Amino acid sequence: MAKTVGTIGVLTSGGDAPGMNAAIRAVVRTAIAKGMKVKGIKRGYAGLLNEEIVDMSSRSVSDIIQRGGTILYTARCDKFKEEEGQKLGADICRKHGIEGLVVIGGDGSYKGAGKLAGLGINTVGLPGTIDLDIACTDYTIGFDTAVNTAMVAIDKIRDTSTSHERCSIIEVMGRNAGYIALWCGIANGAEDILLPERYDNNEQTIINHIIAHRKRGKTHHIVINAEGIGHSTSMAKRIEAATGIETRASILGYMQRGGMPTCKDRVYASIMGAKAVELLAAGKSNRVVGWKDGEFVDFDMEEALNMHKDIREEEYVISRMLAQ
Ligand code: ADP
Ligand code: F6P
Repeated sequence: MAKTVGTIGVLTSGGDAPGMNAAIRAVVRTAIAKGMKVKGIKRGYAGLLNEEIVDMSSRSVSDIIQRGGTILYTARCDKFKEEEGQKLGADICRKHGIEGLVVIGGDGSYKGAGKLAGLGINTVGLPGTIDLDIACTDYTIGFDTAVNTAMVAIDKIRDTSTSHERCSIIEVMGRNAGYIALWCGIANGAEDILLPERYDNNEQTIINHIIAHRKRGKTHHIVINAEGIGHSTSMAKRIEAATGIETRASILGYMQRGGMPTCKDRVYASIMGAKAVELLAAGKSNRVVGWKDGEFVDFDMEEALNMHKDIREEEYVISRMLAQ
């Protein structure tokens, strides 16, 4: 029989994402419902190494389900990438009686969680990133909110772009992944979508599209450019020079990471938070929770980190077909 877990910890790490608070709330309340104690670790692995550890109760997570960001704060911590930092982190967990840890973050954070698991601290990872770039899961906490935020912003840019009959290059986040760009591209009806996974660096193709669309009567031309490609401002200048059509760049930036989480992010993050605690309560370690083929599932951390995923070709092809 699995050893009973008395106390668990929870931390958020890497870039924040809307819905992280819903996940923290679910972790805390599920653990308490199962008779465990919960400690919140502030500022990710950096806070762990600085022993920024606080007791959490059901009331510590009141009134947060609707709030963006993370009440535990988040950070990046290079020291934790080294063995010395990881050993110190495991020792600090033991000192505070933390037998299980929920790590909410991206796959960088998962690597840290895997190291702690190897040092005897039971760990479970939850996919917290707006980028959707975690291979083992079709859903990550924050993506839905981020694409909805970006979609609304792009609609607004489109209004002014149409009024001035301009071309707009709109850059969205996503690190090296094009999921946000692809979804916004479809949702906003963009004429061109530049994805790191597909872009051939041929600006002449975009220029030809813009000229052809203008001849066919289109009054604006929206290019969604993924952060992984970047250079939107210089791209706009080159496109304006080549087409003779006024072209402006807008980089949406951090607004995509903030704001009230959508219903989907609140619900999925809540369920995933509860699942993480159930896994720890069952004595499991080195697992990550995901959403695959319509189900909440969990995978071995190493297996998850070795998985690969790409944008769906079908979605890309359809996005191109609809942009005529
Ligand atoms: P994300 O979790 O969103 O992918 P990062 O890649 O910035 O974000 O990782 C967040 C943190 O996870 C890093 O600052 C570091 O503390 C920890 N981390 C990343 N990679 C490793 C690694 N290889 N080993 C241990 N910890 C790591
Ligand atoms: O991973 C989320 C994300 O917002 C990426 O889309 C982006 O590349 C990165 O974080 C930006 O990180 P920082 O907050 O360090 O600028």
